[in-house]
Amino acid sequence: MAEKSKILIIGATGYIGKFIVEASSKHGHPTFVLVRETTASDPKKSEIIQNFKNLGVSFVYGDIYNHESLVNAIKQVDVVISAVGATAIADQVKIIAAIKEVGTIKRFLPSEFGGDVDSMKAVEPAASLFREKVKLRRIIESEGIPYTYVVSNGFAGYFLPTIGQLDATAPPREKVVILGDGNRKAIFVKEEDIASYTIRAVDDPRTLNKILHIVPPANVVSFNELVSLWESKIGKTLEKTYILEEQLLKNIHDSPMPFKILLAICHAIFVNGLTLSIDTSTGVEASEIYPEVKYTTVDEYLNHFI
Ligand SMILES: NC(=O)c1ccc[n+]([C@@H]2O[C@H](COP(=O)([O-])OP(=O)(O)OC[C@H]3O[C@@H](n4cnc5c(N)ncnc54)[C@H](OP(=O)(O)O)[C@@H]3O)[C@@H](O)[C@H]2O)c1
Repeated sequence: MAEKSKILIIGATGYIGKFIVEASSKHGHPTFVLVRETTASDPKKSEIIQNFKNLGVSFVYGDIYNHESLVNAIKQVDVVISAVGATAIADQVKIIAAIKEVGTIKRFLPSEFGGDVDSMKAVEPAASLFREKVKLRRIIESEGIPYTYVVSNGFAGYFLPTIGQLDATAPPREKVVILGDGNRKAIFVKEEDIASYTIRAVDDPRTLNKILHIVPPANVVSFNELVSLWESKIGKTLEKTYILEEQLLKNIHDSPMPFKILLAICHAIFVNGLTLSIDTSTGVEASEIYPEVKYTTVDEYLNHFI
């Protein structure tokens, strides 16, 4: 069996990063994390750091704004996965510069983990975020760095526990707000499954210089279908309010950050709509090429909240 690549995860202590670290380690990859020293001693992150230690992950202390630390980390691995947050997307040019300098990286997975930014249509402030991700794709390609772009679609944990009620902490039992007319299809994927598909892709020639679209068929659902599914589980019909485009645009305009960006991303998904067909010249679909992953369906996911 081919040796498993050594993987460096940058943004390891973030929301999606920690799932990727766990998957990398559990799949037997020698796993490295670039962590800022301040984070390593931050009590709020201690559980995540302890979990990394339990998994036997190798720590490299550094910062994406410290070139030497980046080069030192990248030298030790074959694959770099970035899961930096939305505010650091453009700054991944610093990772690219370090990858170029080291010159031995077999695959780079930049911080994507969302929709397919080359085809999504969005209003501000989501438009700027998507533009930065597109710009980064073009830089990676022009620099000739081997890549995989993980188009994970929606993080299940962001949306499903409240059935898309963005300001709620529990799922609706009486009333529900639906963004748009409720008919556009969205895609939700459990974070552990995103991480599992991502790690399978790093050494896979089928995903080299391709987009890995994660579109598990059972998880493509419209807002209306999601609400119906929830209603059937709780045995109750909810009172529905639809927020159509004009009102949604006004809400985006009037909301503070970071809620504004979340609403704008929802507008891109639930009003503008996703392109569901996959261009096979540029991408592959994860559940098709990794049928061994028994992904959690939206239906199964919702059972935890009844
Ligand atoms: N599809 C979806 O539903 C969805 C939802 C949310 C996000 N996303 C996307 O997922 C990706 C990751 O976002 P996230 O929300 O998981 O990120 P996040 O929770 O904000 O975490 C960001 C990570 O980057 C690290 N980091 C920040 N600045 C750094 C620096 N200077 N040097 C080294 N590390 C640094 C942070 O470290 P510390 O722990 O030290 O702060 C943290 O580990 C983004 O591309 C985002 O757009 C997608």
